[in-house]
Amino acid sequence: MNAQEILAEVEKFGATLLVLDGKLKATPPGVLPSDLKTAPPQRQTDVQKLGEKATEAPADVLAWVDQRTAASGFLTGMLYRKVPKGTNWFYTLGSATLFAFISQAVTGVFLAMFYTPSATQAYSSIAHINNEVPLGQLVHGMHKWGSSLMVILVFLHMGRTFFFGAYKYPRELNWVIGVVLLILTMTMAFTGYLLPFDQRSFWASVVGININGTGPVVGPYLSDFLRAGPELGATTLSRFYAIHMLLVPGAIIALIGAHIYLVVKLGTTAPPWMKADKPKVAVQVSQLDAGVEGNGATPGDQA
Ligand code: HEM
Repeated sequence: MNAQEILAEVEKFGATLLVLDGKLKATPPGVLPSDLKTAPPQRQTDVQKLGEKATEAPADVLAWVDQRTAASGFLTGMLYRKVPKGTNWFYTLGSATLFAFISQAVTGVFLAMFYTPSATQAYSSIAHINNEVPLGQLVHGMHKWGSSLMVILVFLHMGRTFFFGAYKYPRELNWVIGVVLLILTMTMAFTGYLLPFDQRSFWASVVGININGTGPVVGPYLSDFLRAGPELGATTLSRFYAIHMLLVPGAIIALIGAHIYLVVKLGTTAPPWMKADKPKVAVQVSQLDAGVEGNGATPGDQA
């Protein structure tokens, strides 16, 4: 680049080149060289520099993490993936179930801070949450009603995937993971029901455990495992609490991860009433390779 070209480039941005104090400088766009004498540009103060750094900090932190995890590739793939034509509101049921689960996890953590899983104190600790803890009744109510909502949503989501044929190849594994998620969601609702340890939850759990006992082959073992003793009591409550707090949520989190990974990897199914687009130009059979245009031939290439 010669001097003329450099000048032309600088002027393209509305700046002017000048020699000031024996040094070559460029004025910022829209500033005349004469302005520099009357109102020279202010140097940034330390506070301004700090402010600028602070505004760039979140982007810097994200870039730092991304350089070490390459997570942006996965996130871009997940957030900008193409969805089939005809995608509609029924496709939001999976995300709604996920949201219900997250809400259950968050409210459950706050409830666990005040709940006592003991046969003598469980009931009074729930009464304490409802009557004395600030916002306790709200959080308890969200958790209690949220559990029914999650069960309803998971069934609706399963219905959507079934009626749209999303269980077929290549999504069979995701369907199987979904079935396990359904069982785990029901297990959460069942084990959570006993925790207030009042008359209703006690007798409902007796009925539920007995129903499990009627299952073929594994039924009696399952009901023995759940009861954790000859009668429903303190040991049953501890067992239900461990299943409800640790075992099942951990498994649900892992399986939701696998479930959503497969959704991103395989994409979602188009609604059954959508037809595949017909090719706009007829393609000779000889130019097709297993149903796909092969050998770089495009419809336009035909003689
Ligand atoms: C905790 C429970 C569950 C969560 C959080 C969940 C979440 C999701 C999400 C976010 C999607 C993608 C969006 C959509 O299609 O709705 C999805 C897709 C799918 N889910 Fe679930 N799901 C759960 C349970 C189930 C159950 C019980 C089944 C079936 C037994 C199931 C089978 C499927 C299938 C086959 C797909 C792929 C849909 C397609 O390709 O169109 N999921 N799930």
